[in-house]
Amino acid sequence: MLIRDGAIQTVSSFAEDVRNGLGQSRQKELPSKYLYDDVGSALFEAITRLPEYGLTRAEERILRQHSDDIAEHLTAHGMVVELGSGSGQKTRQILEALAHHKSMTYCPIEISSSALVSCERELDDLAQVSILGFETEYLDGLSKAVARRKPGDAVLVLFLGSSIGNFDREPAEEFLRRIRQAIEPGDMLLLGTDLEKPLTQLIPAYDDSLGVTGTFNRNLLARINRELGGDFDLSRFQHVALYNARERRIEMHLRSTETQTVCIERANFTFLCDETIWTESCHKFGRNEPAEMAKRAGFKCVEQWVDVEWPFAENLLVAV
Ligand code: AVI
Repeated sequence: MLIRDGAIQTVSSFAEDVRNGLGQSRQKELPSKYLYDDVGSALFEAITRLPEYGLTRAEERILRQHSDDIAEHLTAHGMVVELGSGSGQKTRQILEALAHHKSMTYCPIEISSSALVSCERELDDLAQVSILGFETEYLDGLSKAVARRKPGDAVLVLFLGSSIGNFDREPAEEFLRRIRQAIEPGDMLLLGTDLEKPLTQLIPAYDDSLGVTGTFNRNLLARINRELGGDFDLSRFQHVALYNARERRIEMHLRSTETQTVCIERANFTFLCDETIWTESCHKFGRNEPAEMAKRAGFKCVEQWVDVEWPFAENLLVAV
């Protein structure tokens, strides 16, 4: 069953965020959540299959190799809530391992309705698993899902793919704290975190040779054209992925290749030549960092698995 909720972003808040983000006199910025409309989510799925983007395959390897170890910690867990399920492909491993022990409810939470529909289709054949999807923002969906838990059932929250890295570091910790507040002691969180790695590996992951990541990034401007009547000429913006060593993060920008004025909903925005719009940050973590951050947010790390080919850590945390 798919529950749609009115709490998803409205056209008016998108318009307001665009107006504020592009109206800045300093660095222009757009919130990265707007990258993930139906087109952007499909492009992101394509990114996860690119040879240069090893992150998703690393996580899939860990989940394949260790799903039974994960399930061993989780015998009382009758509800799995996934924040940002995407297509649900990598979740299959965990659900299959857990469903050996007992029947369960899987609650994917997504702001992209097409991702939610393909996730439900992908996992529909799993016996013992009933699916209850929520089309809403993460924390809103989490509180609605846990409100439906059955007595005696513990909850496992999945926050995979290093989506935590798309928050700045302090808000990331605050987000973990909010997850902790929404669940009970003994509930668990499986947290995927991409680790620091050489730039020769990292930069191509965000600037691939086929240009899929560039298209994903420019789709944000196309979305403004589609939904807000903007007149961005996409050929005049170039995708840039740079590493900010001080903040230990990849930053994605769109660089204006000339001085130009763009009109959105009767408002004009001028871009100087080489001026950029900052669209996303992807923070990278030291190996001990996820456990330290989780501890400050009210969790204890019970296990960490690290992939050998692509530095990526899956962290199993228990709410204390
Ligand atoms: C969704 N998130 C974890 C991706 C990442 O790697 O930070 C987003 C992404 N942006 C460009 N490529 C991938």
